[in-house]
Amino acid sequence: MSVPVRRFDAVIVGGGGAGLRAALQLSEAGLKTAVLSKVFPTRSHTVAAQGGISASLGNVQEDRWDWHMYDTVKGSDWLGDQDAIEFMCRKAPEAVIELEHFGMPFDRLENGKIYQRPFGGHMANFGKTPVQRACAVADRTGHAMLHTLYQRNVRANTQFFVEWMALDLIRDADGDVVGVTALEMETGEISVLHAKAVLFATGGAGRIFSASTNAFINTGDGLGMTIRAGIPLEDMEFWQFHPTGVAGAGVLITEGVRGEGGILLNCNGERFMERYAPNAKDLASRDVVSRAMAVEIYEGRGCGKNKDHVLLKLDHLGPEIINQRLPGIREIAIKFAGVDPIKEPIPVVPTCHYQMGGIPTNYKGEVVAPKGDNPEDRVNGFYAAGECACASVHGANRLGTNSLLDLVVFGKSAGESMIEFIRNERPAHKPLPENAADYSLSRIARLENQTNGEEVADVRTAMQQVVQRHAGVFRTQEVLEEGVKQIKAVAERVKRTQIKDKSQVWNTARIEALEMDNLIEVALATLISAEARKESRGAHARDDFPDRNDETWMKHTLYSREDFKLSYKPVHNQPLTVDYIAPQKRVY
Ligand code: FUM
Repeated sequence: MSVPVRRFDAVIVGGGGAGLRAALQLSEAGLKTAVLSKVFPTRSHTVAAQGGISASLGNVQEDRWDWHMYDTVKGSDWLGDQDAIEFMCRKAPEAVIELEHFGMPFDRLENGKIYQRPFGGHMANFGKTPVQRACAVADRTGHAMLHTLYQRNVRANTQFFVEWMALDLIRDADGDVVGVTALEMETGEISVLHAKAVLFATGGAGRIFSASTNAFINTGDGLGMTIRAGIPLEDMEFWQFHPTGVAGAGVLITEGVRGEGGILLNCNGERFMERYAPNAKDLASRDVVSRAMAVEIYEGRGCGKNKDHVLLKLDHLGPEIINQRLPGIREIAIKFAGVDPIKEPIPVVPTCHYQMGGIPTNYKGEVVAPKGDNPEDRVNGFYAAGECACASVHGANRLGTNSLLDLVVFGKSAGESMIEFIRNERPAHKPLPENAADYSLSRIARLENQTNGEEVADVRTAMQQVVQRHAGVFRTQEVLEEGVKQIKAVAERVKRTQIKDKSQVWNTARIEALEMDNLIEVALATLISAEARKESRGAHARDDFPDRNDETWMKHTLYSREDFKLSYKPVHNQPLTVDYIAPQKRVY
């Protein structure tokens, strides 16, 4: 079957912060650039980022980029690549000022400078005292960023394919990337997008968990496409649990609440973080706070009739601060928890929020994969940025507000790398392989012809329950081994999913089935990588291996689809210009 071919210099998959920032760079350089997005770009999951974007502007207190770098390395529990971390933290002030000049409506201080609030793990003077580093637009920072970047892209003539889902990466016989296949969601038509360079900026895959702050669109599409194309995924065992998801609903309550002075209480009214992190208290890094909450609940000091959550108290901030700095939070608490935080605390639990691992890249946004002995060979024509990518700046645990920073810094640097590649290495399109769409068409045909299969929703629920139970805040060998066994069984069921009602909902159902193919790859990668890592580091906390083990485990995991194979590669311990930050005990 022949399918239409559309030709661009650059194709970006994903219309969130990273995709839009990269697209802007490319379009402004005069390159013909397409952005594919499953939703209207301003509805991408970046919209949900609330509390801020970090940069050592020093608008409120003295701050320095090398302090930010230190915090990020420490936050990563020494799994982050120090070259990439230096790159990001050095670039942060410039990236935020650039957004300001693009028109992003940051909150202001009395003196007109950008307002900055404290956030977990961000400290002054190499970890000594909390510092105000998060540049905020009330509690809607991601929303403001998306609108700003989208408008700039419209001005720059970026071509948007809205409600299009990318299906598969197209690699030629050399292993080079030459495009993607994609499905127009409204019509169901398949096209090939032929490109000189492709960037994945498809966001996270938090929907592998049943309780998640992630949008329904976060189904790991970029990761699924990457691993099906034979490129391994990096550090997939590391998932961040945000301390403050609304209990029972999963909706995010920004860490900015604690940045503004909110505190966590157990059923005895005790500010328990004082025991776990005497210095940073409620503003310790997220893995530390989430584990402390889980222990409080586990040991019977949770709140409510089931003692299954703790309370986030902020009424003492007063209505003025809450309405001015945290208006979205007040609305969320009223709608999803039935409490007005001006008067009452919000019930919260640790909730899956962010994947630290992803598609392996360097700090230029180039995708790297082992070819022979070198684990860092470039995959020509292929780039990734944002949550789907693993640069790796977040290592084993990300600091809040470093995600929005990651999007714009690495979105831009990937865009710059793509421009250089297109100008110097691939000025003309490389030919498409014959029958470039066949693999995607066979996936669709399988769905159309499947009989005696199961509904996607049932299999997805089964997957989410396995991941939720077996890859949670605390892990053990037994729990993980059982999780691996169960997720492999779910993966077999995914191969036989069936769309029973092919009437009006046909395309929606088909999209969900195709997303399921991506989710299951991420779930397998998560459990298999986690079972193998026999230490505790950052968000990967094992009861049976409670300590970090740098001697054996200071290395990145690479998970391949073929035979569920794991290999490892070294952490980049050489920053670009400064001295290596040597591992220390991680206390807050
Ligand atoms: O808590 C928050 O506002 C989330 C920020 C982040 O994940 O970076």
